[in-house]
Amino acid sequence: MIYMSVTIGTPLQSSAYKVLLLGSGELGKEVVISLQRLGVEVHAADRYDHAPAMQVAHFSHTLNMADPQALKALIAQVKPHLIVPEIEAIATQVLVEIEEQNIATVIPSAKAVNLTMNREGIRRLAAEELGLPTSAYRFANTLEAFRAACDDIGYPNFVKPVMSSSGKGQSRVKSFDEVDAAWEYAQTGGRVNQGTVIVESQIDFDFEITLLTVRAKNAETGEIETSFCDPIGHRQDAGDYVESWQPQLMTALALEEAKRIANKVTIALGGCGIFGVELFVKGDKVWFSEVSPRPHDTGLVTLASQFQSEFELHARAILGLPVNTARHSTAASAVIYAGVDDTNLSFTGLNLALANPNTDLRLFGKPEGFKRRRMGVVTARAETTDHARELAQHAAQQVSVQ
Ligand SMILES: Nc1ncnc2c1ncn2[C@@H]1O[C@H](COP(=O)(O)OP(=O)(O)O)[C@@H](O)[C@H]1O
Ligand SMILES: [Mg+2]
Repeated sequence: MIYMSVTIGTPLQSSAYKVLLLGSGELGKEVVISLQRLGVEVHAADRYDHAPAMQVAHFSHTLNMADPQALKALIAQVKPHLIVPEIEAIATQVLVEIEEQNIATVIPSAKAVNLTMNREGIRRLAAEELGLPTSAYRFANTLEAFRAACDDIGYPNFVKPVMSSSGKGQSRVKSFDEVDAAWEYAQTGGRVNQGTVIVESQIDFDFEITLLTVRAKNAETGEIETSFCDPIGHRQDAGDYVESWQPQLMTALALEEAKRIANKVTIALGGCGIFGVELFVKGDKVWFSEVSPRPHDTGLVTLASQFQSEFELHARAILGLPVNTARHSTAASAVIYAGVDDTNLSFTGLNLALANPNTDLRLFGKPEGFKRRRMGVVTARAETTDHARELAQHAAQQVSVQ
């Protein structure tokens, strides 16, 4: 007997199958487009109007998603089948209650969303419960404890607010002289003031990867199975991704170990969907760094490299549909920054960026730019990752922002 999966109704009618996206950035925008293609009614929420995903959703909702009452009221109003968090700054306790009361399915699971919104939760799960290799680490919530933690871990080390993302409030501390400044910076850069920080020993890796890991139901049995995309290599600048490529070559042993780690951590988090498992690699050795229970920014490259991008994989997996993680091309992505703090921005040089037939472009349509805000991305296909990276970088440089 083949199991019966989801029934998708008609958007905007009473049979609609509804998804509520919490966070409406550029990754959410692609998820919305993928869901729209499958006939899903999509509601996109964020803290500001006209966020990228809102521009392609059936409905948009502007609210403070960290406010439990506001979030509860939105869920009661929309009555979604699925709640799909796209960012970490959400009142995750509300999602735990929603899941307990069977009001909606939280993607991939309330546990996953709750643990990964705080670096302490996911690090303790990975290192202490699952026994996975990680950098050495300490947590501190006072300056005194922080100084001791830094001395304990040694230098250089990495300091990050436990509630932060995209490099905010993070620093690499090279010696004791820099400790107090790192503390100050972490206290202002995190999502909550006076928050806890993690101090991590520096891993001297050859390269870092995102291993996109999908938990999706088998079409015939309905059992959840794990599959992997080819490893994505990436370069980070100030804690933010600037370029990525797929595949990242690595030894067979390292790939096997990367899959073992990703499998273990995603099983522990549970549910269906895509996960971006961040790993550091040196020779055959692999360390777990962190995981996003959703599409990953470095995975934008899959728009050019795979039959199903990470966004299509996520859409299918969360609906309980089967996935195909196969890659058809070698590709790279390069980020386009605003370069200025302004609204009403215009983008030119697009003809030059797209002059090579193997390049492609996404402009996210963000209503406001900041110097280091990601406004778009270029992807490029080539025979080798080196060539694809060159093409993507070159194309991204052709785009000027005014
Ligand atoms: N312990 C570490 N050793 C070496 N590099 C690190 C370490 N921690 C972070 N980094 C570098 O900083 C980047 C951002 O850190 P990460 O923990 O992924 O923060 P975020 O949640 O902002 O992505 C990593 O991709 C890596 O390049
Ligand atoms: Mg990261």
